[in-house]
Amino acid sequence: MGRVVVTGKVPKPALDILRRAGHEVVAWEREEQQSRAQLLEQVSGADALVTLLTEQVDAELLDAAGEQLKVVANVAVGYNNVDVEACRSRGVVATNTPGVLTDATADLAMALILMTTRRLGEGERVIRSQTPWQWGMFYLLGSGLQRKTLGVVGLGSIGAATARRARAFGMNIIYSSRSAAPRELTSELGAHRVDLDTLLAESDVVSLHCPYSPATHHLLSASEFAAMKSSAYLINTARGPVVDEAALVEALKGGQIAGAGLDVFEDEPQVHPGLLDCENAVLLPHLGSATIETRTAMATLAADNAVSVLAGEDPPTPIG
Ligand code: GLV
Ligand code: GLV
Repeated sequence: MGRVVVTGKVPKPALDILRRAGHEVVAWEREEQQSRAQLLEQVSGADALVTLLTEQVDAELLDAAGEQLKVVANVAVGYNNVDVEACRSRGVVATNTPGVLTDATADLAMALILMTTRRLGEGERVIRSQTPWQWGMFYLLGSGLQRKTLGVVGLGSIGAATARRARAFGMNIIYSSRSAAPRELTSELGAHRVDLDTLLAESDVVSLHCPYSPATHHLLSASEFAAMKSSAYLINTARGPVVDEAALVEALKGGQIAGAGLDVFEDEPQVHPGLLDCENAVLLPHLGSATIETRTAMATLAADNAVSVLAGEDPPTPIG
Protein backbone atom coordinates (compact mmCIF):
# COMPACT_ATOMS: atom_id res chain seq x y z
CA MET A 1 0.00 0.00 0.00
CA GLY A 2 1.10 3.54 -0.58
CA ARG A 3 2.34 6.43 1.47
CA VAL A 4 0.01 9.39 1.17
CA VAL A 5 1.27 12.78 2.30
CA VAL A 6 -1.43 15.32 3.10
CA THR A 7 0.36 18.65 3.06
CA GLY A 8 -2.17 20.73 5.01
CA LYS A 9 -4.93 20.21 7.55
CA VAL A 10 -8.05 18.71 5.93
CA PRO A 11 -11.38 17.44 7.34
CA LYS A 12 -11.04 14.02 8.96
CA PRO A 13 -13.37 12.10 6.61
CA ALA A 14 -10.74 12.55 3.89
CA LEU A 15 -8.06 10.97 6.07
CA ASP A 16 -10.48 8.13 6.89
CA ILE A 17 -10.89 7.38 3.16
CA LEU A 18 -7.14 7.19 2.70
CA ARG A 19 -6.63 4.96 5.77
CA ARG A 20 -9.56 2.72 4.95
CA ALA A 21 -7.96 2.07 1.57
CA GLY A 22 -4.99 0.75 3.51
CA HIS A 23 -2.56 3.59 2.94
CA GLU A 24 -0.07 5.02 5.35
CA VAL A 25 -1.16 8.62 5.89
CA VAL A 26 1.27 11.35 6.84
CA ALA A 27 -0.79 14.46 7.46
CA TRP A 28 0.06 17.98 8.55
CA GLU A 29 -2.37 18.50 11.42
CA ARG A 30 -2.01 22.19 12.26
CA GLU A 31 -4.17 25.04 10.98
CA GLU A 32 -1.23 27.17 9.92
CA GLN A 33 0.61 26.30 6.77
CA GLN A 34 3.95 24.54 7.07
CA SER A 35 7.07 26.22 5.76
CA ARG A 36 8.33 25.38 2.30
CA ALA A 37 11.38 23.68 3.83
CA GLN A 38 9.18 21.49 6.02
CA LEU A 39 6.96 20.73 3.07
CA LEU A 40 9.87 19.62 0.89
CA GLU A 41 10.97 17.32 3.67
CA GLN A 42 7.47 16.00 4.42
CA VAL A 43 6.74 14.90 0.84
CA SER A 44 9.86 12.73 0.56
CA GLY A 45 8.93 9.17 -0.35
CA ALA A 46 5.26 9.92 -1.07
CA ASP A 47 3.26 7.82 -3.53
CA ALA A 48 0.46 10.39 -3.42
CA LEU A 49 0.22 14.02 -2.40
CA VAL A 50 -2.97 15.71 -1.25
CA THR A 51 -2.23 19.43 -1.62
CA LEU A 52 -3.85 22.78 -0.85
CA LEU A 53 -4.11 25.79 -3.16
CA THR A 54 -1.64 27.73 -1.02
CA GLU A 55 1.16 25.32 -1.97
CA GLN A 56 3.22 25.55 -5.14
CA VAL A 57 3.30 22.08 -6.67
CA ASP A 58 6.26 22.59 -8.98
CA ALA A 59 9.23 20.59 -10.28
CA GLU A 60 11.11 21.15 -7.04
CA LEU A 61 8.31 19.69 -4.94
CA LEU A 62 7.74 16.75 -7.30
CA ASP A 63 11.45 15.94 -7.27
CA ALA A 64 11.52 16.22 -3.48
CA ALA A 65 8.74 13.61 -3.38
CA GLY A 66 10.67 11.21 -5.58
CA GLU A 67 10.18 9.00 -8.63
CA GLN A 68 7.62 6.74 -6.95
CA LEU A 69 5.10 9.63 -6.85
CA LYS A 70 1.96 8.74 -8.81
CA VAL A 71 -0.66 11.37 -8.07
CA VAL A 72 -1.11 14.96 -6.90
CA ALA A 73 -4.66 15.50 -5.65
CA ASN A 74 -5.22 19.24 -5.27
CA VAL A 75 -8.01 20.18 -2.85
CA ALA A 76 -9.38 23.00 -5.05
CA VAL A 77 -11.07 23.47 -8.38
CA GLY A 78 -8.48 26.07 -9.41
CA TYR A 79 -5.10 24.48 -10.12
CA ASN A 80 -2.90 27.40 -11.02
CA ASN A 81 -0.73 26.34 -8.06
CA VAL A 82 0.04 23.04 -9.83
CA ASP A 83 2.60 22.81 -12.62
CA VAL A 84 0.54 20.38 -14.67
CA GLU A 85 3.25 20.02 -17.31
CA ALA A 86 5.86 19.11 -14.70
CA CYS A 87 3.44 16.44 -13.40
CA ARG A 88 2.77 15.09 -16.89
CA SER A 89 6.45 14.86 -17.79
CA ARG A 90 7.06 12.78 -14.64
CA GLY A 91 4.05 10.55 -15.27
CA VAL A 92 2.26 11.98 -12.22
CA VAL A 93 -1.53 12.24 -12.49
CA ALA A 94 -2.91 15.59 -11.29
CA THR A 95 -6.50 15.97 -10.08
CA ASN A 96 -8.70 18.82 -8.80
CA THR A 97 -12.13 19.10 -7.17
CA PRO A 98 -14.65 20.56 -9.64
CA GLY A 99 -18.39 20.49 -9.00
CA VAL A 100 -18.46 20.09 -5.22
CA LEU A 101 -17.75 23.77 -4.53
CA THR A 102 -19.90 25.24 -7.26
CA ASP A 103 -22.88 26.20 -5.09
CA ALA A 104 -20.86 27.55 -2.18
CA THR A 105 -18.78 29.74 -4.46
CA ALA A 106 -21.80 30.97 -6.41
CA ASP A 107 -23.53 31.78 -3.11
CA LEU A 108 -20.54 33.87 -2.14
CA ALA A 109 -20.47 35.64 -5.51
CA MET A 110 -24.15 36.49 -5.07
CA ALA A 111 -23.45 37.70 -1.53
CA LEU A 112 -20.74 40.01 -2.88
CA ILE A 113 -23.09 41.30 -5.58
CA LEU A 114 -25.61 42.20 -2.89
CA MET A 115 -22.99 43.58 -0.52
CA THR A 116 -21.50 45.90 -3.11
CA THR A 117 -24.68 47.10 -4.83
CA ARG A 118 -26.48 47.69 -1.51
CA ARG A 119 -23.39 49.08 0.28
CA LEU A 120 -23.71 46.59 3.11
CA GLY A 121 -20.07 46.69 4.13
CA GLU A 122 -20.26 50.45 4.50
CA GLY A 123 -23.44 50.16 6.53
CA GLU A 124 -21.95 47.57 8.84
CA ARG A 125 -18.88 49.72 9.37
CA VAL A 126 -21.08 52.68 10.38
CA ILE A 127 -22.63 50.67 13.18
CA ARG A 128 -19.43 49.01 14.35
CA SER A 129 -17.54 52.30 14.47
CA GLN A 130 -20.39 53.78 16.52
CA THR A 131 -20.77 56.56 13.97
CA PRO A 132 -24.06 58.42 14.62
CA TRP A 133 -26.71 57.51 12.05
CA GLN A 134 -30.42 57.61 11.44
CA TRP A 135 -32.78 56.47 8.74
CA GLY A 136 -32.79 58.98 5.91
CA MET A 137 -34.49 59.10 2.53
CA PHE A 138 -31.12 59.41 0.82
CA TYR A 139 -28.96 57.62 3.36
CA LEU A 140 -26.53 54.99 1.97
CA LEU A 141 -28.51 54.46 -1.19
CA GLY A 142 -27.32 51.63 -3.37
CA SER A 143 -28.67 50.32 -6.62
CA GLY A 144 -31.19 47.57 -7.29
CA LEU A 145 -30.56 44.45 -9.34
CA GLN A 146 -33.89 44.08 -11.13
CA ARG A 147 -33.61 44.44 -14.92
CA LYS A 148 -29.87 45.10 -14.60
CA THR A 149 -27.32 43.11 -16.59
CA LEU A 150 -24.87 40.64 -15.09
CA GLY A 151 -21.83 39.99 -17.27
CA VAL A 152 -20.35 36.58 -16.48
CA VAL A 153 -16.73 36.18 -17.55
CA GLY A 154 -16.32 32.42 -17.97
CA LEU A 155 -19.59 30.50 -18.04
CA GLY A 156 -18.33 27.28 -16.42
CA SER A 157 -20.15 25.57 -13.56
CA ILE A 158 -19.58 28.38 -11.07
CA GLY A 159 -20.37 31.15 -13.55
CA ALA A 160 -23.59 29.38 -14.51
CA ALA A 161 -24.59 28.81 -10.88
CA THR A 162 -23.99 32.50 -10.15
CA ALA A 163 -26.04 33.49 -13.19
CA ARG A 164 -28.91 31.27 -11.99
CA ARG A 165 -28.93 33.07 -8.65
CA ALA A 166 -28.77 36.48 -10.33
CA ARG A 167 -31.72 35.52 -12.54
CA ALA A 168 -33.75 34.87 -9.39
CA PHE A 169 -32.96 38.48 -8.40
CA GLY A 170 -34.31 39.73 -11.73
CA MET A 171 -31.05 40.24 -13.59
CA ASN A 172 -30.41 39.64 -17.28
CA ILE A 173 -27.34 37.62 -18.19
CA ILE A 174 -24.65 38.04 -20.84
CA TYR A 175 -21.41 36.11 -20.88
CA SER A 176 -18.01 35.90 -22.47
CA SER A 177 -16.15 32.63 -22.73
CA ARG A 178 -13.43 30.94 -24.75
CA SER A 179 -16.05 28.64 -26.23
CA ALA A 180 -19.82 28.83 -26.52
CA ALA A 181 -21.72 27.29 -23.61
CA PRO A 182 -24.21 24.48 -24.32
CA ARG A 183 -27.45 25.76 -25.84
CA GLU A 184 -29.51 24.16 -23.07
CA LEU A 185 -27.66 26.22 -20.49
CA THR A 186 -27.80 29.51 -22.37
CA SER A 187 -31.51 29.14 -23.07
CA GLU A 188 -32.18 28.27 -19.41
CA LEU A 189 -30.31 31.43 -18.41
CA GLY A 190 -31.58 33.53 -21.30
CA ALA A 191 -27.90 34.35 -21.77
CA HIS A 192 -26.15 35.35 -24.95
CA ARG A 193 -22.45 35.31 -25.66
CA VAL A 194 -20.62 38.56 -26.34
CA ASP A 195 -16.96 39.52 -26.60
CA LEU A 196 -15.29 40.88 -23.47
CA ASP A 197 -15.39 44.50 -24.73
CA THR A 198 -19.15 44.32 -25.21
CA LEU A 199 -19.61 42.61 -21.87
CA LEU A 200 -17.66 45.36 -20.08
CA ALA A 201 -19.60 48.11 -21.84
CA GLU A 202 -23.04 46.62 -21.21
CA SER A 203 -22.85 45.06 -17.74
CA ASP A 204 -24.05 46.63 -14.52
CA VAL A 205 -22.21 43.91 -12.62
CA VAL A 206 -19.19 42.05 -14.03
CA SER A 207 -18.46 38.76 -12.26
CA LEU A 208 -15.25 36.81 -12.92
CA HIS A 209 -15.43 33.00 -13.14
CA CYS A 210 -12.51 32.13 -15.40
CA PRO A 211 -9.48 30.09 -14.34
CA TYR A 212 -6.19 31.88 -13.78
CA SER A 213 -3.51 31.21 -16.38
CA PRO A 214 -1.04 33.32 -18.37
CA ALA A 215 -3.94 33.97 -20.77
CA THR A 216 -6.08 35.56 -18.04
CA HIS A 217 -3.31 37.41 -16.17
CA HIS A 218 -4.56 41.00 -15.68
CA LEU A 219 -7.52 40.29 -17.95
CA LEU A 220 -9.03 43.36 -16.29
CA SER A 221 -6.71 46.34 -16.17
CA ALA A 222 -6.92 50.13 -16.69
CA SER A 223 -8.42 50.08 -20.19
CA GLU A 224 -11.02 47.47 -19.20
CA PHE A 225 -12.13 49.52 -16.20
CA ALA A 226 -12.33 52.56 -18.47
CA ALA A 227 -14.63 50.54 -20.75
CA MET A 228 -17.04 49.73 -17.90
CA LYS A 229 -19.99 51.88 -16.92
CA SER A 230 -19.19 54.28 -14.08
CA SER A 231 -22.23 52.78 -12.31
CA ALA A 232 -20.92 49.21 -12.67
CA TYR A 233 -19.49 46.82 -10.09
CA LEU A 234 -16.73 44.22 -10.38
CA ILE A 235 -16.98 40.92 -8.50
CA ASN A 236 -14.00 38.54 -8.25
CA THR A 237 -14.38 35.11 -6.67
CA ALA A 238 -11.99 33.46 -9.18
CA ARG A 239 -8.31 34.27 -8.73
CA GLY A 240 -6.70 37.55 -7.71
CA PRO A 241 -4.19 38.02 -10.56
CA VAL A 242 -7.00 38.00 -13.15
CA VAL A 243 -7.37 41.63 -12.00
CA ASP A 244 -4.66 44.30 -12.07
CA GLU A 245 -5.17 45.38 -8.47
CA ALA A 246 -3.28 48.67 -8.74
CA ALA A 247 -5.41 49.65 -11.74
CA LEU A 248 -8.53 48.61 -9.83
CA VAL A 249 -7.62 50.92 -6.95
CA GLU A 250 -7.29 53.79 -9.44
CA ALA A 251 -10.63 52.93 -11.03
CA LEU A 252 -12.37 52.77 -7.64
CA LYS A 253 -10.81 56.02 -6.43
CA GLY A 254 -11.36 57.81 -9.71
CA GLY A 255 -15.02 56.81 -9.95
CA GLN A 256 -14.49 54.86 -13.16
CA ILE A 257 -16.51 52.05 -11.65
CA ALA A 258 -18.96 52.17 -8.74
CA GLY A 259 -17.50 49.43 -6.58
CA ALA A 260 -15.86 46.04 -6.28
CA GLY A 261 -16.45 42.88 -4.29
CA LEU A 262 -13.31 40.78 -3.94
CA ASP A 263 -12.81 37.37 -2.36
CA VAL A 264 -9.36 36.88 -3.90
CA PHE A 265 -6.31 39.09 -4.24
CA GLU A 266 -3.40 39.46 -6.60
CA ASP A 267 -0.74 38.76 -3.99
CA GLU A 268 -2.73 36.74 -1.44
CA PRO A 269 -2.82 37.04 1.53
CA GLN A 270 -1.48 40.58 0.96
CA VAL A 271 -4.14 43.10 0.00
CA HIS A 272 -3.21 46.22 -1.97
CA PRO A 273 -3.17 48.97 0.68
CA GLY A 274 -5.11 51.26 -1.66
CA LEU A 275 -8.09 48.91 -1.48
CA LEU A 276 -8.34 49.40 2.28
CA ASP A 277 -9.06 53.11 1.69
CA CYS A 278 -11.90 52.36 -0.72
CA GLU A 279 -15.28 52.45 1.01
CA ASN A 280 -16.75 51.11 -2.23
CA ALA A 281 -14.77 47.87 -2.02
CA VAL A 282 -16.00 44.81 -0.13
CA LEU A 283 -13.02 42.64 0.82
CA LEU A 284 -13.27 39.03 1.94
CA PRO A 285 -10.45 36.63 2.85
CA HIS A 286 -10.92 33.92 0.16
CA LEU A 287 -14.05 32.32 1.62
CA GLY A 288 -15.64 31.09 -1.63
CA SER A 289 -15.73 27.42 -0.69
CA ALA A 290 -15.60 27.94 3.07
CA THR A 291 -18.50 25.88 4.35
CA ILE A 292 -18.10 22.74 6.44
CA GLU A 293 -20.03 20.71 3.88
CA THR A 294 -18.08 22.00 0.91
CA ARG A 295 -14.62 21.70 2.44
CA THR A 296 -15.44 18.15 3.51
CA ALA A 297 -16.67 17.31 0.01
CA MET A 298 -13.55 18.84 -1.57
CA ALA A 299 -11.16 16.95 0.70
CA THR A 300 -12.98 13.63 0.33
CA LEU A 301 -13.06 14.02 -3.47
CA ALA A 302 -9.31 14.66 -3.41
CA ALA A 303 -8.85 11.55 -1.26
CA ASP A 304 -10.97 9.51 -3.69
CA ASN A 305 -8.79 10.77 -6.53
CA ALA A 306 -5.61 9.71 -4.74
CA VAL A 307 -7.03 6.29 -3.80
CA SER A 308 -8.16 5.62 -7.37
CA VAL A 309 -4.81 6.41 -8.93
CA LEU A 310 -2.94 4.33 -6.34
CA ALA A 311 -5.30 1.44 -7.17
CA GLY A 312 -4.41 1.78 -10.84
CA GLU A 313 -7.82 3.18 -11.73
CA ASP A 314 -8.93 6.37 -13.49
CA PRO A 315 -9.51 9.09 -10.89
CA PRO A 316 -12.98 10.72 -10.71
CA THR A 317 -11.76 14.23 -11.57
CA PRO A 318 -8.42 14.39 -13.37
CA ILE A 319 -7.10 17.76 -14.56
CA GLY A 320 -7.16 18.17 -18.34
C1 GLV B 1 -10.77 27.77 -4.38
O1 GLV B 1 -10.36 28.88 -4.58
C2 GLV B 1 -10.66 26.70 -5.32
O2 GLV B 1 -10.12 26.88 -6.42
O3 GLV B 1 -11.12 25.60 -4.99
C1 GLV C 1 -15.82 24.95 -12.07
O1 GLV C 1 -16.30 25.76 -12.85
C2 GLV C 1 -16.49 23.74 -11.56
O2 GLV C 1 -16.52 22.75 -12.29
O3 GLV C 1 -16.99 23.75 -10.43
